[in-house]
Amino acid sequence: MRSDCSLLRAAGPDDLDALYQFELLCFQEHHFRRDHVAWILDNDRALTLLENEPHGVTAAMMLLFEGRTCRVLSVAVAPEARRRGTGTRMMELAEGICRERRIPIIRLEVSTRNFAAIELYRRLGYRMDGVLYGYYSWGEDAYSMRKDLPETTSDARPPRLSEPEPYAMININP
Ligand SMILES: CC(C)(COP(=O)(O)OP(=O)(O)OC[C@H]1O[C@@H](n2cnc3c(N)ncnc32)[C@H](O)[C@@H]1OP(=O)(O)O)[C@@H](O)C(=O)NCCC(=O)NCCS
Repeated sequence: MRSDCSLLRAAGPDDLDALYQFELLCFQEHHFRRDHVAWILDNDRALTLLENEPHGVTAAMMLLFEGRTCRVLSVAVAPEARRRGTGTRMMELAEGICRERRIPIIRLEVSTRNFAAIELYRRLGYRMDGVLYGYYSWGEDAYSMRKDLPETTSDARPPRLSEPEPYAMININP
């Protein structure tokens, strides 16, 4: 169980073991490979945020910044902590980060069989913009989903691609 004041923080290479265990827990046989998780943690264009409890990781989100687009590589909540709004708050946080970095598009891929995640994204305003047949290595199809963020300013600064300090500790609970 997580408390109401748990924090989301930026992950680094030292979190590899805990994050990989969390991958196995949340995605079971369809998890990222350990070396892929390591690549993400080590990538200057990626940002991984995770929520820790004393017993381990309880929520995680991986973002990859590709020019004017942010890709949500993964979002996951521990099974015992689901349906309490954590997934929604993490996705809203991703939007906030994009707005701050002047990134106007968030996109993601999701298995056509992952009804929970599709519903999460749909309720947040993501729209399907394609079907990727055989997208996953195990053969499942994926929907490509996208959300366009309204411009908050006419100041067209290029997106910052490195991890900004202010996200070191972020409270995602209301
Ligand atoms: C998808 C996932 C991240 C959702 O996290 P969560 O914290 O439970 O999401 P929320 O509590 O914010 O749910 C928001 C809405 O999404 C929808 N939703 C979430 N889980 C659902 C489910 N199992 N069945 C149907 N709708 C669901 C509901 O509309 C829900 O609102 P409600 O609880 O008021 O009905 C979580 O189920 C998970 O970690 N799944 C395994 C990993 C995964 O598949 N990640 C996505 C692909 S990368």
